[in-house]
Amino acid sequence: MPRVRFVQQDGSGKSIEVGRDVSVMLAAVRNGIHGIDGECLDCATCHVYVDEEQASSLPQPSEEELELLSAVSGERKPNSRLSCQLKVPAPLDELVVHVPARQS
Ligand code: FES
Repeated sequence: MPRVRFVQQDGSGKSIEVGRDVSVMLAAVRNGIHGIDGECLDCATCHVYVDEEQASSLPQPSEEELELLSAVSGERKPNSRLSCQLKVPAPLDELVVHVPARQS
């Protein structure tokens, strides 16, 4: 089963098994990952930084996602994504995401 590794600001990490049809945000919330709130579907509190080497493996963000990314509280970077819009795509076995310093 594919995995998502969540890396915190201090470098600590936790890897979680997740089905390919489950969003990264849902995996985080279900497993109590600190720093990903995922309060709703329109909140931008699920911001993550995708591993730079993996970013090109993901589908491009939609216009709606890009608009919401303009409202994130933490620093926005080229690899910023909303984790509610991300799933682990085949053939990746593990997607690595970095949790921002703050969500709100
Ligand atoms: S959970 Fe609210 S925008 Fe992703």
